[in-house]
Amino acid sequence: MNINTNTNFNNIKQTYLFSEIAARVRAYEAEHPDAKIIRMGIGDVTLPLPEEVVNAMVKACQEMGVKETFRGYPPEYGYGFLRDAISIHYADLGVSIAPDSIFVSDGAKSDLGNLVDIFGNNPVIIPDPVYPVYVDSNTMSGNKITYINGTKENGFLPSPAELPEGDHKGSVIYLCSPNNPTGAVYDKKALTAWVDFAVSTGSLIIYDSAYEAFIAEDDIPHTIYEIPGAYECAIEVCSFSKFAGFTGVRCGWTVIPDSLKSGEASIAALWKRRQATKFNGVSYPVQRAAEAALSDEGISACVKNINYYKENAKLITDLLNEKGIFYTGGSNSPYVWLECPEGVGSWEFFDKLLNEVQIVGTPGEGFGKGGDRYFRITAFGSRENTMEAVERLRNIL
Ligand code: MLT
Repeated sequence: MNINTNTNFNNIKQTYLFSEIAARVRAYEAEHPDAKIIRMGIGDVTLPLPEEVVNAMVKACQEMGVKETFRGYPPEYGYGFLRDAISIHYADLGVSIAPDSIFVSDGAKSDLGNLVDIFGNNPVIIPDPVYPVYVDSNTMSGNKITYINGTKENGFLPSPAELPEGDHKGSVIYLCSPNNPTGAVYDKKALTAWVDFAVSTGSLIIYDSAYEAFIAEDDIPHTIYEIPGAYECAIEVCSFSKFAGFTGVRCGWTVIPDSLKSGEASIAALWKRRQATKFNGVSYPVQRAAEAALSDEGISACVKNINYYKENAKLITDLLNEKGIFYTGGSNSPYVWLECPEGVGSWEFFDKLLNEVQIVGTPGEGFGKGGDRYFRITAFGSRENTMEAVERLRNIL
């Protein structure tokens, strides 16, 4: 063949972080078939779906098998019943989001990766360390990225004041809070600084709130729209994956308020056009399941599961406190981000834990250079496995 390929792909890592980890674990398993590996790497849920959610999905599947209630293509931006339910969820959080500003999708990752389609080559600001999808999708599009470092000193919550010199006008800024991978959370004051910066520089914030349901403390915003000015500068991307255990079901949403405009261009209109061309919507049973997750009973069941994971996180952070190891996360997040032992790099620490105690975590370096001395452990495992992992870690930390 003699076609041009997208050479920007030469500038991203050869393999996606979690594929690389899975490959290393498979290789270890092949050599040690009897090893009891405890997986605390990818942030994948382990508790089954709440009964209310399953019942709604089953009922919707049955409707699909009856002539009178069968449905074909779903609306490309989501069924009205789910957009309404998400709008009510925002009202419960104290903010007003119209249903037609909500775009249902098959998950936050897809939207975060696809949003680059509707923008030109703007300067991009991305914290480091961070969820790799923001960096990879912008690199694939040839965008220039300015990194802003999360460090021990700033609690992995970089602020606009730490940006390198420059006017940063018209930037696209990615923020994630509760953060993946560090579990750190922006409070209202810190998030206000970002919103003010975006408004004053004519920039856009893409706010990833996929872990919002884990927030436990007061004064931590659950949505960026709690911050004055956000309706003029922010898109929010959220997910049912971590809130309702939908990693294997696939459903999320993106909020683009009508007030988001760049010159004459409506950002929502561009996204509608993009989705109508490239996306055919989320299946009816999945949207009914998502609607059920947002019912009163659904929310109670989801919160119960979230609390279970948070108790796992506490077992992990109790151990780190006992050992005097620096970490962030764990209290408003399913992730615990810990400092590797002195002189040990994050992939080295990954290998050590896999080889010596058969625990799989995520090396911080996979989330950017700023993670090279850190390691992420998830609390999404079973209680039994988390307790066992804590005992194994106690012996080697
Ligand atoms: C993670 O482990 O960082 C997440 O599970 C990845 C994702 O949500 O796509």
